[in-house]
Amino acid sequence: MDGFQAGRRKLLGAAVGMTALTAAGASRAAPASGADWDAIAQSYDIAGDFVNLENAYYGIMARPVAEDFKRNIDYLNRYNSYHLRRQFDRAGMDQLRTLLAAHTGVAPEELAITRGATESLQNLICNYKLLKRGDSIMYANLDYDAMQYAMNDLAQRSGAKVAVVQLPDQLNRQAAVDTYDKALRANPRTRLLLLTHINHRTGFVLPVVEIIKLAKARGVDVILDVAQSWGQLDYKLPDLGADFIGANLHKWVGAPLGTGFLYIRKERLADIGIERGDEDYAVTDIRSRVHSGTVNAAALMTIPAALKLHDDIGVANRGRRLRALRDHWVSQLRGHDGVQILTPDEEGSYGAVTSFRLKGHTSFEQNVALVNRLVEQYRIFTVARKGPAGGACIRVTPGLFTRTADLDQLVAAIRNLA
Ligand SMILES: Cc1ncc(COP(=O)(O)O)c(C=O)c1O
Repeated sequence: MDGFQAGRRKLLGAAVGMTALTAAGASRAAPASGADWDAIAQSYDIAGDFVNLENAYYGIMARPVAEDFKRNIDYLNRYNSYHLRRQFDRAGMDQLRTLLAAHTGVAPEELAITRGATESLQNLICNYKLLKRGDSIMYANLDYDAMQYAMNDLAQRSGAKVAVVQLPDQLNRQAAVDTYDKALRANPRTRLLLLTHINHRTGFVLPVVEIIKLAKARGVDVILDVAQSWGQLDYKLPDLGADFIGANLHKWVGAPLGTGFLYIRKERLADIGIERGDEDYAVTDIRSRVHSGTVNAAALMTIPAALKLHDDIGVANRGRRLRALRDHWVSQLRGHDGVQILTPDEEGSYGAVTSFRLKGHTSFEQNVALVNRLVEQYRIFTVARKGPAGGACIRVTPGLFTRTADLDQLVAAIRNLA
């Protein structure tokens, strides 16, 4: 039994009797035992010459998944199109969709496999059919850039107006709901709203269930970006109430790069047009909403291994561990005179990602310079982000292999720099 297996068994033993977390991943139970996480940390082969605190870009695969991926690459390289044409393209993809349906809590007919959240959300946004000239569409400053571009493109093609919500830096769950409520009242012709469950700039967990209810009551459709929350927060897709959702599997589920899915609630399929005139599938088949061309089949073939591992550890356990790691560094710096932590501590409002800036360091260039100092002087890797109302910031994201000693190094480095 390798370190991972041992850790997983212990963890599953410890998890018996654990209560389920809520849709927003809000509960904060006692941290799981350090010994279990040590074993799980050892199942990742990570570089030893720097501390990687930039794990929101995409997830390092645990060793069992990486090994499965390598086997799939070798197999496919031997069997080539014989395997794809005779097995994987139809039967294999069907099985995968069934597996993903069980994983997400929806029907297979409501899912289409994509190469990631960008493809999923671009297809949903750009093919949204219900806009009329003079309508408005809405997104926020914290939403992902590529989705903002897609919304702008949709507005331009449909003659719609764009309303941009400015979410303040000092945000909490109620303030977020109130901000959207006010924005929707101020823009009564809003037809489509983009929401990001966990944004990639500050890591704030938007209370999407409440905001979607508000939007629906006003006849506003929501396209939901769960790129950073899927696999990190404990929920099934229907819990959120959104009719259109885009996700990936290569961030928090830990599948190979280039894997994701889109969801359209069955009753709403007709409101999203087919992708670039697709004729492979019937218009009544959700697969006509994605046309990726030849994809990285070995990556797709590895999804079952990633899901198995993910489920064995348990999404609630993962989320709890990531939040505990995040709390470990944030609790030491919150209240420091020279440091502003942008992401709140309110229960349910954060996951692994949290951002900070040194007081007065609001330009992107200043934050890039600081990221460079952190990596060159202290061997700690993070990333600068722009977009928050109060200016740019540095995003810190631990992974399941992160150790508290790594975070103590970060805290010491930030104290020195501040
Ligand atoms: C909030 C958010 N949305 C969308 C994306 C795009 O995801 P993908 O890499 O799956 O295209 C990201 C990636 O960082 C993200 O953070």
